[in-house]
Amino acid sequence: MSEIQKTLSIIKPDAVERNLSEEIKSIFKKNGFEIIDEKKIKITKEEAEKFYLVHQSKPFYNELCSYLSSGPIIVMVLSKENAIIANRQLMGSTNPNDAEEGTIREKYGLSIDKNSVHGSDSIENAKKEIEFFFSN
Ligand code: CMP
Repeated sequence: MSEIQKTLSIIKPDAVERNLSEEIKSIFKKNGFEIIDEKKIKITKEEAEKFYLVHQSKPFYNELCSYLSSGPIIVMVLSKENAIIANRQLMGSTNPNDAEEGTIREKYGLSIDKNSVHGSDSIENAKKEIEFFFSN
């Protein structure tokens, strides 16, 4: 079954810093995503800890939160048919070394931490993550 969904995408500090934001946004658009909301922000470590709360028990949690709060990021709401899975496919595997050819992480990712983009992994998390950044 297919349905129009919304998903949250983040262009992470490593990609913003290398001025890849416009290129990455154009990849989303070329692949049929509509960017229905977006903003460039810098978050605090405490905000990053809240955002990544599901990873709280992971050994990489502290580093992950320091990293996401280390520089400007671009948060976007993307919309498309089956947007959540489509975005995950377009991003490629979490570790850029394993990412399929032509995916965003394969093209731009530097490491498992500096993997250039984040995308929601489920309908439930997409709702939570969009609300986190765009509830006003
Ligand atoms: P992201 O999709 O933003 O979700 C959590 C992030 O944790 C992930 O991308 C990676 O950048 C980061 N991370 C760091 N180490 C690991 C790991 N061992 N397994 C999964 N994610 C990791």
